[in-house]
Amino acid sequence: MTKNKRTGSSRVRAGHREGETVRTLISHAQVKRRLKELARQIRRDFPKDPLHLIGILKGSVFFLADLARELGGEVSFDFLAVSSYGKGIDSTGEVKLIKDLDVSIEGKTVIVVEDILDTGLTLKYLLHIFGEKKPKHLRVVVLLDKQERRIADVRADYTGFTIPNEFVVGYGLDYDERYRNLPDVCILHLGTRAKAKSA
Ligand code: IMP
Repeated sequence: MTKNKRTGSSRVRAGHREGETVRTLISHAQVKRRLKELARQIRRDFPKDPLHLIGILKGSVFFLADLARELGGEVSFDFLAVSSYGKGIDSTGEVKLIKDLDVSIEGKTVIVVEDILDTGLTLKYLLHIFGEKKPKHLRVVVLLDKQERRIADVRADYTGFTIPNEFVVGYGLDYDERYRNLPDVCILHLGTRAKAKSA
């Protein structure tokens, strides 16, 4: 991980199900500190513009809520839902729109708020559909970036942390809809038993 100076505790804890364990990669305090820096960076780039945040459900909810409160000035937000992963860990590479935006983004300074950039296929799809809606500016902020996994040629304008190729949960990120409520970003390990059950 390149960004944070000190990684969180490496203590391995029992997960939600037999065979699953979690280990803190980035503590909640580290996330909060980094969000202040990201918010300052974004506001420096757009000092006067009202910012329209678009959160990608559901993984970005805590990230968007915390970031929005760090951004001064006028801020509005909307949410969009796509599915790219199904229930497991491996991406199908398919992106399906499940919930569209509520309001038009034409002429607005839009900041897409994503939890994690992995293959980049989701973001590539989103930037394509948002670009066609004629925003004044279109920028992307991601909390986590797994650069090693990139397939699509996309990048975020603002990145919280670059992380290794591990499956992470917590602070909004899930495995099969679980672990979103962990305050820290944690690495999830599935024991052989848990893997067999989820297959
Ligand atoms: P991409 O299209 O492969 O970049 O995937 C983006 C989406 O996949 C994210 O918004 C997450 O929902 C999900 N995802 C990718 N990696 C992880 C992970 O390590 N933990 C949880 N969800 C992930």
